[in-house]
Amino acid sequence: MKHIRNFCIIAHIDHGKSTLADRLLDATQTVTEREKQEQLLDNMDLERERGITIKSHAIQMYHKRNGEEFTFNLIDTPGHVDFSYEVSRSIAACEGALLIVDAAQSIQAQTISNLYLALENDLEIIPVLNKVDLPSANPEEVTDDIVDLLGCDREDVIPASAKTGLGIDTILDAIIDRIPSPKGNPEEPLRALVFDSVYNPFRGVETYFRVFDGSIKKGQKIKFVATNKTYSADEIGTLKLVQFPQKEIKAGDVGYVITGIKDAREVKVGDTITDAENPTTKAVAGFEDVKPMVFAGIYPVDTEDYEELRNSMEKLQLNDASLVFQPESSAALGFGFRCGFLGMLHLEIIQERLEREFDMTVITTVPNVSYLAYTNKEPETPISVSNPSDLPEPSTLNRVEEPYIKASIITKAEFVGSVMSLCIEKRGEITNQTYLTQDRVELSFDMPLAEIVFDFYDRLKTVSKGYASFDYSPIGMRTSKLVKVDVLLNANKVDALSALLHVDNAYDIGKKMCLKLKELIPRQQFDIPIQAAIGAKIIARETVKALRKDVTAKCYGGDISRKRKLLEKQKKGKKRMRAVGNVEIPQEAFMAVLKLN
Ligand code: GTP
Repeated sequence: MKHIRNFCIIAHIDHGKSTLADRLLDATQTVTEREKQEQLLDNMDLERERGITIKSHAIQMYHKRNGEEFTFNLIDTPGHVDFSYEVSRSIAACEGALLIVDAAQSIQAQTISNLYLALENDLEIIPVLNKVDLPSANPEEVTDDIVDLLGCDREDVIPASAKTGLGIDTILDAIIDRIPSPKGNPEEPLRALVFDSVYNPFRGVETYFRVFDGSIKKGQKIKFVATNKTYSADEIGTLKLVQFPQKEIKAGDVGYVITGIKDAREVKVGDTITDAENPTTKAVAGFEDVKPMVFAGIYPVDTEDYEELRNSMEKLQLNDASLVFQPESSAALGFGFRCGFLGMLHLEIIQERLEREFDMTVITTVPNVSYLAYTNKEPETPISVSNPSDLPEPSTLNRVEEPYIKASIITKAEFVGSVMSLCIEKRGEITNQTYLTQDRVELSFDMPLAEIVFDFYDRLKTVSKGYASFDYSPIGMRTSKLVKVDVLLNANKVDALSALLHVDNAYDIGKKMCLKLKELIPRQQFDIPIQAAIGAKIIARETVKALRKDVTAKCYGGDISRKRKLLEKQKKGKKRMRAVGNVEIPQEAFMAVLKLN
């Protein structure tokens, strides 16, 4: 154990986590020339395109110094708030963390939130000032910022460039000298933390773990404490770019186990693996069942594809345990599924995967958070509302609670005013304002989660000209005044367009929704009235005027190829339309509430 170092890299997005990880792999010759490719740790296509490490992985490196060989386990952490529970479990598997700060951008919201997670787990922090090669780098000032934040000495901060390789050797030394070797008792019953799992369609679920006590052996009968299920450890091993099967993984080390589990839901991140016959009495603390935060309906564009969509969702769930869904039906869209996601990014990922991997064309309805409704029935029992149509009748409704978050925003002093106005507009209450430096301010707000779901990131970027970073964590439910706003097209209520809104915003948003829908719904042979209503009360109205001329008429009958192109374009546009009554509604319309303004 003396020669093992378990660590992770924590950083704000784009500060250079993946690039630095690559340099460490180079320096330790973990990856052969042939295997080398950019962004090694991000091996999902989608991840690479988005530049975000969505799923965490682990990689083992060997590093020799003065004849002594060390084993480094680098545990990758996802870089997005949607996955913060996974980050916390990865951190719990380590003794140390490299805290990367971009020398041009300095400390950002995620730097701080990840740092807090690391400090809660008593990790040794090695601050790394990355990108010092950039002409825009501010090494002196940013080092001051880091020293202020950590209370460390200036000499503790390692100047580095993951691009040029500067500082990499110093980082390797620091990993050995500053990060403690793992403690733990190899003689005690097996106690290992599950920090990640990956679905493999051929081999079943691969579970990544860190052994705290005891050891795990090939063929051992193991038990997962939270799920209380027993399996045989068919294969265990360590992870490099590929898996290396082993006979035993001992206390302090990191590895994977394959047990033939075929459903990702059976392996829960944060769970404890122990010996089935001689179980540990102390499970690793901090286990939580992750709960979806955002809900939306997913419907096939073509009603006939419902069964195929169900199949695809089931397969997706096998490898993404955080996706939940159940069948629902909508008068407007027919049969589909109400799905729960960790956040908006997760929703987008699922939608994209359905289309890319399963070739489905789907319509996603207006996302919402999950509310608790209390009716006047005794005894008072909360009803969980994750679909607008589940909200009880207003006459029977006592009160509604909605989820709140603590938001942390770091921005430049000059944008404090506009960021505050935005947060107040989003029903936020300021709880704290701290000047991190003369020019950098951290603002804390309590805000309804629902307001983050709708266009918050985009608005924040706009009002701060891109100089704001943002992070949040849930702080529980609070009473709120909610109403259901319905949309009627041609006098037909379209349930899939209903939204739950705070009463103070309902009129304004209702009006904007009508305007937006007017823009998005194609003109047809007749006038289409668009109305927003709360109960029987109409609160806004617009009209899509009837079409007068053939769309191809403006081609003057001349250029036939152009005419064909136009028709083709129309046909393509149709793919994502749904006819509700006699009105054609494009997909964008269902998401319209997200992009008002
Ligand atoms: P996510 O995985 O998206 O969270 O980002 P990350 O933190 O892993 O950042 P990544 O390694 O992808 O780097 C972001 C960008 O910064 C990339 O374009 C890198 O090439 C660049 N970059 C990383 N390190 C350095 C550095 O030391 N100097 C310079 N000039 N660019 C760097």
